[in-house]
Amino acid sequence: MEKFNIAIDGPAGAGKSTIARLVAKELDFIYVDTGAMYRAVTWKVLQEGLRPDQTEAMIALAGGMEIRLVPGENGQLVYVDGEDVTGVIRTPDVTGNVSRVSSIAEIRAVLTAKQQELAKSKGVVMDGRDIGSHVLPDAEVKIFLTASVRVRAERRYREMKEAQPDVDITLERLERDIAERDRMDQQREASPLVRADDAVLMDTTDMPIPQVVEAILELCKTQV
Ligand code: C5P
Repeated sequence: MEKFNIAIDGPAGAGKSTIARLVAKELDFIYVDTGAMYRAVTWKVLQEGLRPDQTEAMIALAGGMEIRLVPGENGQLVYVDGEDVTGVIRTPDVTGNVSRVSSIAEIRAVLTAKQQELAKSKGVVMDGRDIGSHVLPDAEVKIFLTASVRVRAERRYREMKEAQPDVDITLERLERDIAERDRMDQQREASPLVRADDAVLMDTTDMPIPQVVEAILELCKTQV
């Protein structure tokens, strides 16, 4: 099969990473989770103890760090300057700060260049917020995944409880946090979360994951 690129965008908890990973596996493509890259920068910013107003230092940090995404047994592993940060980039502290850090245009430029480099030889399924609209505007297949805030919060809640049964979080709190992250991602000036004009909209509120994967694979058939 000729190689092509697939861009999957959408708000938090729409199922992007699970779906993108499954599609990549089916096609034997490389999966790139761009949210993990923004999380990696945010983790480093917090590690360094930078204050929200230290934008220049954050930009320098993002420019100087090496982020590597490596396929692992149970999903993608993320390394920052050789250190495995796969788990620590998912903490509430990172999640609570990532939209602020990713609103900085210069940090987006650094990561966008890395993402474009990863997709250069095609055969990539990339998920994020601005992939179809900004990072890979020429991607052959573009999907915009969405679902109601309630359903997205319920999915995240189940995932979190499975990973850590005693986690101190309520569904209502998660729903509020997700809605706030959506708002910041949609309203930022630099490449906001938006559906590209040519992206196929899929609402996964009542759609099981295998059905969404099937629908995307069907769309990919037009590329063969
Ligand atoms: O996908 P995930 O929820 O891990 O993304 C975390 C955050 O990273 C998003 O809420 C958004 O602020 C930022 N992000 C972004 N552009 C992308 C991917 C993620 O701004 N392409």
